Amino acid sequence: MQPSQTLIEQAAAACARGTKGVALTGAGISVESGIPPFRGKGGLWEKIDPMKYAHIDALVSNPAEVWEVLFRGIGELLTTATPNAGHLGLQRLEQMGILQTVITQNVDGLHQKAGSSDVIEFHGTHAVLRCMGCHVRSDWQAITLDRIPPVCPCGAYLRPDVVMFGEPIDVGLLRRSQILSANCDVMLVVGTSATVEPAAYLPLIAKDRGAFIIEINPEPTPLTDRVSDVTLLGPAGEVMERIVAAVANIQGRSL
Ligand code: OAD
Repeated sequence: MQPSQTLIEQAAAACARGTKGVALTGAGISVESGIPPFRGKGGLWEKIDPMKYAHIDALVSNPAEVWEVLFRGIGELLTTATPNAGHLGLQRLEQMGILQTVITQNVDGLHQKAGSSDVIEFHGTHAVLRCMGCHVRSDWQAITLDRIPPVCPCGAYLRPDVVMFGEPIDVGLLRRSQILSANCDVMLVVGTSATVEPAAYLPLIAKDRGAFIIEINPEPTPLTDRVSDVTLLGPAGEVMERIVAAVANIQGRSL
Protein backbone atom coordinates (compact mmCIF):
# COMPACT_ATOMS: atom_id res chain seq x y z
CA MET A 1 0.00 0.00 0.00
CA GLN A 2 1.25 3.49 -0.85
CA PRO A 3 -0.41 6.83 -0.02
CA SER A 4 -1.28 9.08 -2.95
CA GLN A 5 1.14 11.81 -4.05
CA THR A 6 -1.54 14.39 -3.15
CA LEU A 7 -1.49 13.26 0.49
CA ILE A 8 2.32 13.20 0.53
CA GLU A 9 2.38 16.77 -0.78
CA GLN A 10 -0.14 17.92 1.85
CA ALA A 11 2.11 16.45 4.56
CA ALA A 12 5.24 17.94 2.95
CA ALA A 13 3.63 21.40 2.73
CA ALA A 14 2.81 21.29 6.47
CA CYS A 15 6.38 20.17 7.24
CA ALA A 16 7.84 22.93 5.06
CA ARG A 17 5.87 25.53 7.06
CA GLY A 18 7.16 24.07 10.35
CA THR A 19 10.11 25.23 12.43
CA LYS A 20 9.17 23.68 15.79
CA GLY A 21 8.23 20.19 14.65
CA VAL A 22 8.10 17.19 16.93
CA ALA A 23 7.95 13.50 16.01
CA LEU A 24 6.33 10.89 18.24
CA THR A 25 7.53 7.45 17.25
CA GLY A 26 6.69 3.90 18.23
CA ALA A 27 7.77 0.34 17.51
CA GLY A 28 6.53 0.48 13.89
CA ILE A 29 9.34 2.81 12.82
CA SER A 30 11.88 0.11 13.72
CA VAL A 31 10.06 -2.76 11.97
CA GLU A 32 12.06 -2.14 8.77
CA SER A 33 15.22 -2.47 10.93
CA GLY A 34 14.15 -6.02 11.82
CA ILE A 35 12.72 -5.27 15.28
CA PRO A 36 9.21 -6.66 15.74
CA PRO A 37 6.43 -4.43 17.15
CA PHE A 38 4.49 -5.26 20.32
CA ARG A 39 0.92 -5.45 19.03
CA GLY A 40 -0.63 -6.96 15.92
CA LYS A 41 0.56 -9.72 13.61
CA GLY A 42 4.07 -10.92 14.47
CA GLY A 43 4.10 -8.67 17.54
CA LEU A 44 5.97 -9.58 20.72
CA TRP A 45 2.80 -9.63 22.82
CA GLU A 46 1.47 -12.42 20.54
CA LYS A 47 4.32 -14.62 21.76
CA ILE A 48 4.59 -13.60 25.39
CA ASP A 49 2.09 -12.28 27.91
CA PRO A 50 3.17 -8.71 28.81
CA MET A 51 1.61 -8.92 32.27
CA LYS A 52 3.68 -12.06 32.95
CA TYR A 53 7.01 -10.74 31.64
CA ALA A 54 6.87 -6.97 31.06
CA HIS A 55 5.31 -5.81 34.33
CA ILE A 56 7.48 -4.52 37.17
CA ASP A 57 5.85 -7.01 39.56
CA ALA A 58 7.04 -9.87 37.33
CA LEU A 59 10.60 -8.51 37.38
CA VAL A 60 10.60 -8.13 41.16
CA SER A 61 9.14 -11.59 41.82
CA ASN A 62 10.98 -13.53 39.12
CA PRO A 63 13.94 -11.58 37.67
CA ALA A 64 15.64 -14.65 36.18
CA GLU A 65 12.61 -15.55 34.07
CA VAL A 66 12.07 -11.95 32.86
CA TRP A 67 15.74 -11.71 31.90
CA GLU A 68 15.59 -15.06 30.08
CA VAL A 69 12.32 -14.49 28.22
CA LEU A 70 12.43 -10.74 27.56
CA PHE A 71 15.65 -8.83 28.22
CA ARG A 72 18.23 -11.27 26.85
CA GLY A 73 16.51 -11.59 23.44
CA ILE A 74 15.87 -7.86 23.05
CA GLY A 75 19.48 -7.13 24.02
CA GLU A 76 20.77 -9.49 21.32
CA LEU A 77 18.42 -8.05 18.69
CA LEU A 78 19.45 -4.48 19.42
CA THR A 79 23.20 -5.03 19.15
CA THR A 80 22.91 -5.62 15.39
CA ALA A 81 19.97 -3.36 14.45
CA THR A 82 20.68 -0.30 12.30
CA PRO A 83 18.51 2.72 11.46
CA ASN A 84 16.28 2.56 8.38
CA ALA A 85 14.88 5.20 6.02
CA GLY A 86 12.23 6.14 8.61
CA HIS A 87 14.78 7.14 11.25
CA LEU A 88 17.01 8.77 8.62
CA GLY A 89 14.08 10.72 7.18
CA LEU A 90 13.33 12.28 10.57
CA GLN A 91 16.99 13.25 10.91
CA ARG A 92 16.80 14.89 7.45
CA LEU A 93 13.77 16.91 8.59
CA GLU A 94 15.86 18.13 11.54
CA GLN A 95 18.68 19.14 9.15
CA MET A 96 16.11 20.99 7.04
CA GLY A 97 15.19 23.11 10.08
CA ILE A 98 11.72 21.59 10.48
CA LEU A 99 11.99 19.08 13.31
CA GLN A 100 13.25 19.97 16.78
CA THR A 101 12.81 16.83 18.83
CA VAL A 102 11.97 13.16 18.48
CA ILE A 103 9.94 11.73 21.34
CA THR A 104 10.24 7.96 21.06
CA GLN A 105 8.56 5.14 22.92
CA ASN A 106 11.29 2.86 21.57
CA VAL A 107 14.21 1.68 23.67
CA ASP A 108 16.43 0.72 20.70
CA GLY A 109 18.58 3.87 20.32
CA LEU A 110 18.08 3.94 16.54
CA HIS A 111 17.11 7.63 16.33
CA GLN A 112 20.42 8.57 17.96
CA LYS A 113 22.26 6.18 15.61
CA ALA A 114 20.51 7.93 12.70
CA GLY A 115 21.88 11.27 13.94
CA SER A 116 18.80 12.93 15.50
CA SER A 117 20.25 15.33 18.04
CA ASP A 118 17.40 15.72 20.54
CA VAL A 119 15.74 12.41 21.36
CA ILE A 120 13.47 11.95 24.36
CA GLU A 121 13.47 8.28 25.33
CA PHE A 122 10.00 8.26 26.85
CA HIS A 123 10.16 4.59 27.89
CA GLY A 124 13.88 4.60 28.73
CA THR A 125 16.71 2.80 26.98
CA HIS A 126 17.74 -0.81 26.72
CA ALA A 127 21.36 0.24 26.13
CA VAL A 128 21.91 1.12 29.79
CA LEU A 129 21.56 -1.13 32.83
CA ARG A 130 20.36 0.11 36.20
CA CYS A 131 20.81 -1.51 39.59
CA MET A 132 17.52 -2.36 41.30
CA GLY A 133 19.19 -1.74 44.68
CA CYS A 134 21.61 1.20 44.50
CA HIS A 135 20.23 2.58 41.15
CA VAL A 136 23.74 3.08 39.72
CA ARG A 137 23.78 2.82 35.94
CA SER A 138 26.26 0.75 33.94
CA ASP A 139 26.59 -0.51 30.40
CA TRP A 140 26.24 -3.97 28.93
CA GLN A 141 30.00 -4.24 28.30
CA ALA A 142 30.48 -4.28 32.09
CA ILE A 143 28.57 -7.56 32.51
CA THR A 144 28.37 -11.09 31.19
CA LEU A 145 25.15 -13.02 30.84
CA ASP A 146 26.73 -16.25 32.11
CA ARG A 147 24.66 -15.74 35.20
CA ILE A 148 21.07 -14.51 34.86
CA PRO A 149 20.08 -12.06 36.27
CA PRO A 150 23.37 -10.11 36.28
CA VAL A 151 24.40 -8.69 39.64
CA CYS A 152 25.64 -5.20 40.58
CA PRO A 153 28.81 -4.89 42.72
CA CYS A 154 26.41 -3.85 45.53
CA GLY A 155 24.82 -7.31 45.35
CA ALA A 156 21.40 -6.36 43.95
CA TYR A 157 20.16 -7.32 40.47
CA LEU A 158 20.68 -5.26 37.34
CA ARG A 159 17.93 -4.51 34.84
CA PRO A 160 17.72 -2.53 31.58
CA ASP A 161 16.86 1.13 32.21
CA VAL A 162 13.44 0.83 30.54
CA VAL A 163 9.94 1.65 31.75
CA MET A 164 7.97 -1.52 32.44
CA PHE A 165 4.21 -1.78 32.83
CA GLY A 166 3.26 -0.55 36.29
CA GLU A 167 6.12 1.98 36.39
CA PRO A 168 5.80 5.76 35.99
CA ILE A 169 7.32 7.83 33.19
CA ASP A 170 10.22 10.01 34.37
CA VAL A 171 8.46 13.20 35.42
CA GLY A 172 11.04 15.52 33.80
CA LEU A 173 10.76 13.74 30.45
CA LEU A 174 6.98 13.72 30.67
CA ARG A 175 6.83 17.44 31.40
CA ARG A 176 9.28 18.30 28.61
CA SER A 177 7.34 16.13 26.15
CA GLN A 178 4.07 17.83 27.09
CA ILE A 179 5.59 21.30 26.67
CA LEU A 180 7.15 20.45 23.29
CA SER A 181 3.85 18.94 22.12
CA ALA A 182 1.93 22.02 23.23
CA ASN A 183 4.32 24.33 21.35
CA CYS A 184 5.00 22.42 18.14
CA ASP A 185 3.64 23.55 14.78
CA VAL A 186 3.72 20.12 13.15
CA MET A 187 3.74 16.67 14.73
CA LEU A 188 4.66 13.49 12.87
CA VAL A 189 3.21 10.42 14.59
CA VAL A 190 5.13 7.48 13.15
CA GLY A 191 4.65 3.76 13.76
CA THR A 192 2.70 3.82 16.99
CA SER A 193 -0.62 2.14 17.74
CA ALA A 194 -1.33 5.20 19.93
CA THR A 195 -2.86 3.01 22.60
CA VAL A 196 -0.44 3.38 25.52
CA GLU A 197 -0.83 6.41 27.79
CA PRO A 198 0.60 8.90 28.47
CA ALA A 199 2.48 8.86 25.12
CA ALA A 200 -0.77 8.41 23.18
CA TYR A 201 -2.06 11.65 24.67
CA LEU A 202 0.75 13.84 23.23
CA PRO A 203 -0.81 14.17 19.73
CA LEU A 204 -4.03 15.36 21.38
CA ILE A 205 -2.12 18.08 23.25
CA ALA A 206 -0.47 19.14 19.98
CA LYS A 207 -3.76 19.13 18.09
CA ASP A 208 -5.56 21.17 20.78
CA ARG A 209 -2.83 23.81 20.49
CA GLY A 210 -3.19 24.06 16.71
CA ALA A 211 -0.41 21.80 15.39
CA PHE A 212 -0.83 19.96 12.09
CA ILE A 213 -0.78 16.20 12.77
CA ILE A 214 0.72 13.81 10.21
CA GLU A 215 0.30 10.13 10.91
CA ILE A 216 2.38 7.44 9.22
CA ASN A 217 1.34 3.84 9.76
CA PRO A 218 0.27 0.95 7.49
CA GLU A 219 -2.86 0.57 9.68
CA PRO A 220 -5.38 3.10 10.96
CA THR A 221 -5.15 3.93 14.70
CA PRO A 222 -7.48 5.66 17.19
CA LEU A 223 -5.97 8.96 15.96
CA THR A 224 -6.89 8.37 12.31
CA ASP A 225 -9.72 10.62 11.05
CA ARG A 226 -10.17 12.05 14.56
CA VAL A 227 -6.89 13.75 15.44
CA SER A 228 -4.63 13.32 12.41
CA ASP A 229 -4.91 15.96 9.67
CA VAL A 230 -3.25 13.66 7.15
CA THR A 231 -2.88 9.91 7.52
CA LEU A 232 -0.32 8.26 5.26
CA LEU A 233 -1.08 4.54 5.24
CA GLY A 234 2.21 2.80 4.49
CA PRO A 235 5.54 1.67 5.96
CA ALA A 236 7.53 4.40 7.69
CA GLY A 237 10.70 4.07 5.60
CA GLU A 238 9.07 4.41 2.19
CA VAL A 239 6.68 7.16 3.31
CA MET A 240 9.40 9.21 5.04
CA GLU A 241 11.58 9.07 1.92
CA ARG A 242 8.71 10.46 -0.15
CA ILE A 243 7.96 13.21 2.38
CA VAL A 244 11.61 14.29 2.54
CA ALA A 245 11.83 14.39 -1.27
CA ALA A 246 8.63 16.47 -1.48
CA VAL A 247 9.86 18.90 1.23
CA ALA A 248 13.22 19.28 -0.57
CA ASN A 249 11.29 20.08 -3.71
CA ILE A 250 9.26 22.80 -1.93
CA GLN A 251 12.35 24.25 -0.21
CA GLY A 252 14.25 24.19 -3.53
CA ARG A 253 11.41 26.04 -5.25
CA SER A 254 11.35 28.73 -2.55
CA LEU A 255 15.12 29.41 -2.64
P1 OAD B 1 2.75 -1.16 18.98
O1 OAD B 1 3.33 -2.52 18.78
O2 OAD B 1 1.58 -1.02 19.87
O3 OAD B 1 2.30 -0.57 17.57
C1 OAD B 1 3.15 -0.61 16.46
C2 OAD B 1 2.50 0.16 15.35
O4 OAD B 1 3.39 0.17 14.25
C3 OAD B 1 1.18 -0.45 14.85
O5 OAD B 1 0.19 0.57 14.79
C4 OAD B 1 1.54 -0.95 13.45
O6 OAD B 1 0.45 -0.84 12.55
C5 OAD B 1 2.66 -0.02 13.07
N1 OAD B 1 3.61 -0.55 12.07
C6 OAD B 1 3.92 -1.82 11.75
N2 OAD B 1 4.84 -1.86 10.78
C7 OAD B 1 5.13 -0.59 10.46
C8 OAD B 1 6.01 0.05 9.54
N3 OAD B 1 6.79 -0.66 8.72
N4 OAD B 1 6.04 1.41 9.50
C9 OAD B 1 5.25 2.14 10.33
N5 OAD B 1 4.41 1.61 11.22
C10 OAD B 1 4.34 0.26 11.28
O7 OAD B 1 3.96 -0.20 19.40
P2 OAD B 1 3.92 1.16 20.21
O8 OAD B 1 2.81 2.02 19.78
O9 OAD B 1 5.31 1.71 20.16
O10 OAD B 1 5.72 0.05 26.16
O11 OAD B 1 3.64 0.63 21.66
C11 OAD B 1 3.66 1.53 22.72
C12 OAD B 1 4.23 0.87 23.94
O12 OAD B 1 3.53 -0.34 24.20
C13 OAD B 1 5.68 0.43 23.82
O13 OAD B 1 6.60 1.46 24.02
C14 OAD B 1 5.78 -0.61 24.88
C15 OAD B 1 4.50 -1.37 24.56
O14 OAD B 1 3.96 -2.12 25.55
C16 OAD B 1 6.27 -0.50 27.24
O15 OAD B 1 6.87 -1.56 27.18
C17 OAD B 1 6.11 0.30 28.48
